Amino acid sequence: MQKYKYLLFFLDLHKLIIMNKTFTMIKPEAVEKNLTGEILQKICQKGFNVIALKKTKLSVSQAKKFYDVHNERPFFNELIEYITSGPIIAIILEKDNAVLDFRNLIGSTDPNEAEEGTIRKMFAESKSKNAIHGSDSNENANIECDFFFSKTERF
Ligand code: CMP
Repeated sequence: MQKYKYLLFFLDLHKLIIMNKTFTMIKPEAVEKNLTGEILQKICQKGFNVIALKKTKLSVSQAKKFYDVHNERPFFNELIEYITSGPIIAIILEKDNAVLDFRNLIGSTDPNEAEEGTIRKMFAESKSKNAIHGSDSNENANIECDFFFSKTERF
């Protein structure tokens, strides 16, 4: 019995160190252009599992809260106006090393700087209309998943 307790302890530790969850949002211009299916296919082909998914539209106050870390940036107002301009697809994804692997899959914020084959290179219009969001750390992944989904909405 003691042996299994140790095993469970190390599995939990593994989960904490190599986080297996990230949050993504397909942004308004990509949803509007009907790119959701193609983007989701690319994500699933790379081995990510969808744990939760919903189509929703952010209010201005929700958007300001979600992007609060950027509130001092010169592009903040533009960002809020854009992200509230239409529905988005909010998604929780699971995979080993999810945050970093997903950041690599989507590519740089600016599609002109993104590597060939990345989602932003393929689908983004510009630095602001960049098709997709990906959490930048395990801590923010947890915060962002909780922002959109309750525990009972995750499978
Ligand atoms: P995202 O990864 O969702 O996180 C913050 C967002 O701010 C980013 O994607 C872009 O959409 C936006 N952003 C970042 N830098 C700029 C910029 N220089 N001009 C306009 N929008 C930006």
